[in-house]
Amino acid sequence: MTGIGTAPAIRPMRAAECDAVIALWHACGLVVPWNDPAADIALALSKPCSTVLVAEEEGGIAASVMVGHDGHRGWLYYLAVAPMRQRRGLGRAMVSAAEAWLAEAGPPKVQLMVRATNTMVLAFYETLGYAPSPVTVMQKWLRDPSA
Ligand SMILES: CC(C)(COP(=O)(O)OP(=O)(O)OC[C@H]1O[C@@H](n2cnc3c(N)ncnc32)[C@H](O)[C@@H]1OP(=O)(O)O)[C@@H](O)C(=O)NCCC(=O)NCCS
Repeated sequence: MTGIGTAPAIRPMRAAECDAVIALWHACGLVVPWNDPAADIALALSKPCSTVLVAEEEGGIAASVMVGHDGHRGWLYYLAVAPMRQRRGLGRAMVSAAEAWLAEAGPPKVQLMVRATNTMVLAFYETLGYAPSPVTVMQKWLRDPSA
């Protein structure tokens, strides 16, 4: 791996950075029709149990991770590194920052979901010490996502 030289500034995103963060998520293929990224950001920023961390490089948003907990487990979402900045350690730095945020918040375990179509990312998480979990995730919409 080629290192990222100077450590990037990783901090909670500002509401004014919403468009830049959503553009990053589109560039990384993380936006799907059934999720509204602006609503996801607004919800995460509105509660003390969640936030969106970003890394700024050369004045732009280079990476993000949404982190939060549900009172029992920590969760990561929307981990993204701008395509031109990948494979330089930024993804690892974002996960470390999210884990540090959760260590302060208290839950003893962190989890994340990987889309069945995104198998390439599994090796990345395994490098960082994550292992597949022997559970089935079940879901139910509480609001119609198309409404
Ligand atoms: C996944 C992602 C965040 C990784 O970011 P990154 O900055 O490229 O990762 P890093 O450079 O920090 O890599 C950390 C380690 O994982 C390894 N790694 C990274 N991507 C990998 C891949 N696709 N396959 C195998 N190993 C990988 C690196 O080699 C590195 O290992 P090393 O430290 O032993 O050299 C980035 O590829 C991305 O944004 N992907 C698109 C969005 C996405 O799929 N997000 C996850 C949703 S669950």
